[in-house]
Amino acid sequence: MLDSTTGRPERAAALRCEGITKAFQGVHAVNGASFDVPEGQITALIGPNGAGKTTVVNILSGAMRCDSGRAFIGTTEITNRPSHTIARLGLLRTFQLSRELGGLTVLENMLVAPADQAGESFVNLLLRPGLIERQEREHAERALALLDTYGLYDHRDTRARELSGGQKKLLEIARAVMASPTILLLDEPMAGVNPALIELIGGYIVDLKEHGVTVLMIEHNLNVVEKICDYVIVLAEGRTLATGRLSELRENTDVVKAYLGEVIDAGASH
Ligand SMILES: Nc1ncnc2c1ncn2[C@@H]1O[C@H](COP(=O)(O)OP(=O)(O)OP(=O)(O)O)[C@@H](O)[C@H]1O
Ligand SMILES: [Mg+2]
Repeated sequence: MLDSTTGRPERAAALRCEGITKAFQGVHAVNGASFDVPEGQITALIGPNGAGKTTVVNILSGAMRCDSGRAFIGTTEITNRPSHTIARLGLLRTFQLSRELGGLTVLENMLVAPADQAGESFVNLLLRPGLIERQEREHAERALALLDTYGLYDHRDTRARELSGGQKKLLEIARAVMASPTILLLDEPMAGVNPALIELIGGYIVDLKEHGVTVLMIEHNLNVVEKICDYVIVLAEGRTLATGRLSELRENTDVVKAYLGEVIDAGASH
C-alpha cells in the first residue's frame, strides 16, 4: 500500500497538509506538520497529549486559522477557508468533547446538521414551498434511517443532554454523516467509551470506509488503530514524526518504538 521508494501512500491524497504551523501566545502547538491522508482509507493521527492533533483537525476543518502552511482537499486549496466552505467540499468533523445541542431532541440535532437546506433561501421560501416540504421530509427520513443505523432510533425524542457519553459520541458521528461527507475527521471518537461500544463504533467507521468515505481519526487506543486503521501519522511536538502502517512503525524504527510506548501510556490516561 505504501510506495517503497517514497514511503508515501500509493493512493491519491484526499487531504494534504504542507508545513502547517500554529502558535498560541508564541508557543507552537503545530510546527510544520506535513502529511497526506490517503483516499478511501482509515488513517489514524496519533501522538502524546499536547502533540497538536486537535489543533491540526481544527485547522483542516476551518474551525481555526493557521499561521503558515497550506492545506488541500484533493487539489483544491482550503487553507484558512471557513468551515461551511470546507463542509461544502465534503469535509466534516466531530469534536473531542461532544457538541450536541443538549436542549434539542436527538432527531432535532440530526435535522440542524445538513448544509444547503433549501428552506434557508428566502426566494425558495416564497416561490417553492413544495420543494422545502419535500426536502424536509427527505431529511427527516434520512435522519431516522441514520439513527436506526447508529442504534439511537428509540432515543429520537430524548433530549440530547440526557444521552450517555457513548450515545453522545454516536450522535456526533451520525450528525456528521447526515451531511454525506467524503472526508470525515474524528477527534477521539472512542474516548471514555466502554469496550462493547468501542467495538461498535469501530464497525461503523469501517462501514463508512466501505461506502467510500476517507477517514482521519485521532486515537490513543493502539488496539483500535491496529484493528481498523490502514495508515498511521505520528505527530510529536507539532511535527510529523513518522507515517506508515502501525506494524511498520512498531518494527522499523527504534525511536518510534520508544515513542509508541509513550502513546500507549498516554492512552491509558484517557
Ligand atoms: N485555544 C488554545 N489556546 C491556547 N493554547 C492552546 C489552544 N488549543 C491548544 N492549545 C495548546 O496547544 C498544544 C496542542 O494542543 P492540542 O489540543 O492540539 O493537542 P492534542 O494532541 O489534541 O492533545 P490531546 O491528546 O490531549 O487531545 C497544547 O499545548 C495546548 O495546550
Ligand atoms: Mg486533542
